[in-house]
Amino acid sequence: MFTRDEFEDLRIKSGEKMAKDEQLHQDALGILVRADRYYWIHQTNWLGEPILQLPQDMFALQEIIYKTRPRFIIEVGVAWGGSLLFYSTLMEILGGEKVIGIDIYIPDDLMDRINSKGRISDRIYWINNSSVADTTIEEVKKLVGDSRNNLVVLDSNHTHDHVLQELRLYSQIVGNGYYLVCGDTIIEHMPEKANRERPWGPGNNPKTALDEFLEENDRFVVDKRLNNKLLFTCNTMGYLKCIKDA
Ligand SMILES: C[S@@+](CC[C@H](N)C(=O)[O-])C[C@H]1O[C@@H](n2cnc3c(N)ncnc32)[C@H](O)[C@@H]1O
Repeated sequence: MFTRDEFEDLRIKSGEKMAKDEQLHQDALGILVRADRYYWIHQTNWLGEPILQLPQDMFALQEIIYKTRPRFIIEVGVAWGGSLLFYSTLMEILGGEKVIGIDIYIPDDLMDRINSKGRISDRIYWINNSSVADTTIEEVKKLVGDSRNNLVVLDSNHTHDHVLQELRLYSQIVGNGYYLVCGDTIIEHMPEKANRERPWGPGNNPKTALDEFLEENDRFVVDKRLNNKLLFTCNTMGYLKCIKDA
């Protein structure tokens, strides 16, 4: 029998060992690449609405939200909106003020579906604009005010330049102890144009942007514990913890 502390210690050490198993990571990546031909990551729902994430990554976000209790969650790149409902459901239980969803394309029927879930919908605030437009940034800053107790999830246009711009802009509203998540860093490790034609690929993606951002910015570190244990993740090295206020 283990005590809770002993079990935690075992889990941390096992995660560290697993992180060093390169063959296992290659095998996991191989499965992700093959399953991506069948849009595996598009198959998850929350409250009936699609989330374009691996459940493993949503569990990681749940752990972050539980641990840090953000006042605002800002998701940059919303797609079908199930992720907004997921964050808002957690805030319903744990507290929190608003979930801000930003996307360049939010059709009315999508907004209607996401807005139709009673009080889970009530704290969702939409910004239908580019994530890097001056007006978007101004609106986000106005909404969060002086709060830096915020979680930001970047998951929009995955080109290097765009993500780097987002990292520089949105990191400003994340304070010490809170998280900035850089989504889809896995693209760096996927074969060129793996399964779809996209303007991003190896050498030009969120991971290359993240590397440049971490070179120039000493306020964020990769959460190694999360990274070590996920194995199946689209956000390799993408869970960043803020360690210093701006
Ligand atoms: C990968 S999907 C987001 C998935 C979503 N985060 C989820 O977990 O289900 C990317 C989204 O980013 C949006 N997008 C692309 N360029 C954008 C931009 N410049 N600003 C805001 N959103 C953008 C697309 O319209 C698309 O809905």
